[in-house]
Amino acid sequence: MVTLSPDLKAKLSTPLKIGSFEVKSRVLQSPLSGVTDMVFRRLVRRYAPESMMYTEMVNATGLHYVKQLPKIMEVDRNERPISIQLFDCRPDFLAEAAVKAVEEGADTVDLNMGCPVNKITKNGGGSSLLRQPEVAEAIVREVVKAVDVPVTVKTRIGWSDKEITILDFAKRMQDAGAQMITVHGRTRAQGYNGNARWEWIARVKEILSIPVIGNGDIFSVEAAVKCLEQTGADGVMCSRGTLGYPFLAGEIDYFLKTGEELPAPTPIQRLECAREHLQALYEYKGDRGVRQARKHMTWYSKGFAGAADLRGQLSLIENVQQGVDLIDRAIEQLANGYELIEENQLAIRLSGVCEAIAQ
Ligand SMILES: Cc1cc2nc3c(=O)[nH]c(=O)nc-3n(C[C@H](O)[C@H](O)[C@H](O)COP(=O)(O)O)c2cc1C
Repeated sequence: MVTLSPDLKAKLSTPLKIGSFEVKSRVLQSPLSGVTDMVFRRLVRRYAPESMMYTEMVNATGLHYVKQLPKIMEVDRNERPISIQLFDCRPDFLAEAAVKAVEEGADTVDLNMGCPVNKITKNGGGSSLLRQPEVAEAIVREVVKAVDVPVTVKTRIGWSDKEITILDFAKRMQDAGAQMITVHGRTRAQGYNGNARWEWIARVKEILSIPVIGNGDIFSVEAAVKCLEQTGADGVMCSRGTLGYPFLAGEIDYFLKTGEELPAPTPIQRLECAREHLQALYEYKGDRGVRQARKHMTWYSKGFAGAADLRGQLSLIENVQQGVDLIDRAIEQLANGYELIEENQLAIRLSGVCEAIAQ
């Protein structure tokens, strides 16, 4: 059974203060490229209405030259709190993009300094900024000057085991004007492998005065509580644990606010959510949305008899109706008493999901 210490409980009863902006939840839904579009965020927000959500990362250079807002930057006027995440290595382009983000409705602007993907780092963005702290500082300073909403940073603990630079880096970000920092407890070299090293998050928390958010391996309510207890972080951000499971931030938020655990959604409820996700992606993006939905659908299809077959079929759907029919049939079979696989549901949910990597 999960329990909260009295100290943690007291802290969690106050809002998260990101500069002048207050958030009434200590659980954040991370930016996930190819995932956290408006459709996904709407699903997450149904269960975690007070949580901060992030767009997928937006390329500031692209924005400078194309002069048109990409769909991934779109924000619904009613969805709040919302942060738009930007990546690049040019302070001027990032400042320009931040202004557009605020016009679009961002409550905060987040700067990606953690992405490990080669095509981003070779251009000086994402986690390569950990190796160019002066550039990262200049970016934060320029963006802070350009907008009147809080500017935040999301990063990793370092480039590699030989270069764990997060303590110096985080302090620099704070001094340059960042109002919150999210630390993913892995190095760039780790990618998504091995455990997140929360002990580094604890060390960052000790030396900063701005809020520090713990990220990495928050796959359950229990993990979220452990991370908060072990690091003293001001909040937790969930990521891969939400793939095919938009309930997670809500489950954690509910526990942190009430001390009680919500019952896990049944496979039928998960499949109903998958169907809604598929239909909404189609409405929002047309056939491209259906193609994008394939991966989501396979993430949802876990933990019941016939799930592997369903996954295989859903990964090949050509149109929305085909997907809806497959899901409807699976729901009908489950409703008719097909047995659930009595295994560890969390392990099942995560199998496959953890191999997902940023595009
Ligand atoms: C598919 C995928 C896409 C991601 N996209 C982004 C992104 O756009 N911006 C970002 O800052 N981090 C991105 N990340 C990193 C996550 O936000 C998070 O930091 C990381 O997955 C660690 O948390 P976890 O161990 O709980 O998954 C992505 C990760 C994955 C798996």
